[in-house]
Amino acid sequence: MKKFLVIGNPIEHSLSPKLQNYWIKSNNLNAIYGKLEVHESDLAELCENMKDGRLNGINVTIPFKKTIIPYLNVLSGHALRTQSVNTVSFDNGNLIGHNTDIDGFELSVRKLNYNVMDKSILILGAGGVVPSIIYALKKMNAKNIALSNRTKKKSLELKNIFSELEILEWGQLNNFDMIINATSLGLKKNDKFQIDFSKAGNGKLFYDVIYEPFETEFSKSAKETGNIYENGLNMFLYQAQKAFNIWHKVEPAINTKVTEFLKS
Ligand code: ATR
Repeated sequence: MKKFLVIGNPIEHSLSPKLQNYWIKSNNLNAIYGKLEVHESDLAELCENMKDGRLNGINVTIPFKKTIIPYLNVLSGHALRTQSVNTVSFDNGNLIGHNTDIDGFELSVRKLNYNVMDKSILILGAGGVVPSIIYALKKMNAKNIALSNRTKKKSLELKNIFSELEILEWGQLNNFDMIINATSLGLKKNDKFQIDFSKAGNGKLFYDVIYEPFETEFSKSAKETGNIYENGLNMFLYQAQKAFNIWHKVEPAINTKVTEFLKS
């Protein structure tokens, strides 16, 4: 039986095992997918386990998307450009780091029929998934991308990778068409942005990387101001679909049955 893991810290909230095991079952594969809370000191051993076949694939989440890189032999183009890995496979004696967050984000935006071309984008946050979002937005020809993060040092680190990024003070709203919440604000019930979103105007797209809980301050602000809201569920599904395809060479279905199952 093949074994797969999602690793991170914290990890208890992850829906990846529920989704991946659902697809494993519906595709009649002999495999199992679990989750493990790890520390950086565990990464070497986990990678060794992949090399000797005790483990067949890893999904990587916060905060190890970059720190896993030194343990890998090869990076895909997407992983290399963003210095961010969310999927590890083992092929021809090599541990390969992939980034499926980029496709996940792009496909979720395309599904909305939202054309990013010539739009002004504002990203809140500078965490692990942000390089992938910036890369995808550039690929889709966004007009300009601004970023606002509480800790400015992290914004500036991203500007080192993406020089055209405009850096704003934390909470500063510019004249955006699409705003992306890539912070962890909203994961906890009492999280507060201390940003007055009512100043944003309407006709905008509020895109949230968070999908659990389904209702957050960000989603409420979007609705109250007459803006479109999209949560991170489709991005999560598409990045997972790409990872599944890398490991099993099968494209699992994304449909209402899967989304209802995840919400159940
Ligand atoms: P990591 O930074 O380890 O990759 P993440 O969950 O991907 O983790 O990122 C968390 C993001 O949410 C960061 O941008 C963080 O801002 P800092 O860089 O200043 O830490 C942001 N964040 C978390 N709590 C926040 C808060 N109370 N107010 C504003 N931003 C917050």
